Amino acid sequence: MDDETWPGLGVGDTVVSAEKIATRVAELGAEITSDYAGKAPLIITVLKGGFIFTADLVREIALPVEIEFMALSSYGNETRSSGSVQILKDVDVDIAGRDVIVVEDIVDTGLTLRYLLDLLGARQPASMEICSLFLREEAGTEAPDLRYVGFRLPPVFIIGYGLDVAGRYRNLPHVAAFDPSV
Ligand code: XMP
Ligand code: MG
Repeated sequence: MDDETWPGLGVGDTVVSAEKIATRVAELGAEITSDYAGKAPLIITVLKGGFIFTADLVREIALPVEIEFMALSSYGNETRSSGSVQILKDVDVDIAGRDVIVVEDIVDTGLTLRYLLDLLGARQPASMEICSLFLREEAGTEAPDLRYVGFRLPPVFIIGYGLDVAGRYRNLPHVAAFDPSV
């Protein structure tokens, strides 16, 4: 499936093709596999945007990982950060002493992640690193250090591969610019 399948639906130019995503996700998985050799990391996925990335990433990690989900809300249906973060769903397990890898779809201002790291850090994990598929190139000063980054992005709003506008487009296999004019 490519852009041609989505005429007139607000799907703009391709920013990252499905093939490039797959290649990069495999590289990230291999990196995590070697960095965490002998360990059983706890993957914490930030819903909803991170669900497709996580599904692909964990299948590229050759370690006994466990997977937990969190849901936060900061954007609502807007395409700009509102600056306020709410927990909609917490993890189901105690993360104390665990090697946590937080998996994010995209870090923009870094506000969402900052909030999450403060929250999870207080629960005393053995270690905590972040793996984000995308990092906005001009990420805000709030943006924490990211151990794993898939792609650096220009300031365009993107959709697809888990990323949405008002809940739609998450199922696009590639990542495209959102074109509100269409
Ligand atoms: P902050 O600014 O807190 O934002 O780092 C991170 C969260 O905002 C959402 N986000 C996007 N969602 N296309 C999307 O579909 C985008 O281009 C985009 N930029 C930010 C996303 O949920 C992320 O977790
Ligand atoms: Mg969103």
